Amino acid sequence: MAWLSRKKQAEPEIDPANIPRHVAVIMDGNGRWAQQRGLPRTAGHSAGSETFRKAADTLARLGVEAFTVYAFSTENWKRPPEEVSAIMGLLDKYLHEAVRDMREKNIRLYFWGDTSPLSPSLRTLIEETQKISESTSGMRVNVCLNYGGRDELTRACRALAQQCEDGALKAADITGEMLENRLYSAGVSDPDLLIRPGGERRISNFLLWQLAYTEFVFSDVLWPDFGEKEILSAIAEYQRRKRRYGGIG
Ligand code: IPE
Ligand code: IPE
Ligand code: MG
Repeated sequence: MAWLSRKKQAEPEIDPANIPRHVAVIMDGNGRWAQQRGLPRTAGHSAGSETFRKAADTLARLGVEAFTVYAFSTENWKRPPEEVSAIMGLLDKYLHEAVRDMREKNIRLYFWGDTSPLSPSLRTLIEETQKISESTSGMRVNVCLNYGGRDELTRACRALAQQCEDGALKAADITGEMLENRLYSAGVSDPDLLIRPGGERRISNFLLWQLAYTEFVFSDVLWPDFGEKEILSAIAEYQRRKRRYGGIG
């Protein structure tokens, strides 16, 4: 019996009829995970990239339609160049694998953020995965890379201002929907659930517009240790929430 109850605790009950359509994750805590083990921070990023692959498999199996991950922020360039290049190296490795496997896994891969400062080889791989995504139909994985919520909103405002300057649009006619259509997330429903592992309780410039009514689940578990059990327990927590969107439910 004791074993049974332990097992029950290890595998949270999930209601298959209330799976979040869109799950977003701030993949945080890689550096601390490595430091706790006396390893270089880059070892944490490497472990974190494995966790990302497994999380994508788990969420796809559950029937989640979109999985958006924060992989590198507009502020992460402040880190030592060796750390930045290690992260880009892991991305390169992941993209090579994705080009090979994404048809078989039936996932669609998109990149949100300004990819223009990335190396030509990374950009070519990104383009390749986008092309493959046109012929796959499964879960959509949005990788936020050189992404910042403020940058995204600034770009959208600039695009609308340009239309006004060109005489194609009047400022008074601008709607929220027009702005939304100029975000990287255009056409994708807002996240239902945001998970932030790694112990911090902040948004760190992630999806500032899209998270308006998202349910937040914070966890002290560091991202490389965030396995299926933690994903399921975050979804179970989401399923206990009552979403009101400003109404009275
Ligand atoms: C998240 O882990 C990965 C990136 C920001 C690229 P961190 O590297 O921020 O790990 P901590 O927060 O320092 O532990
Ligand atoms: C957020 O984590 C960015 C990513 C996970 C890519 P950070 O580690 O950069 O956030 P802060 O600095 O703790 O706010
Ligand atoms: Mg961090």
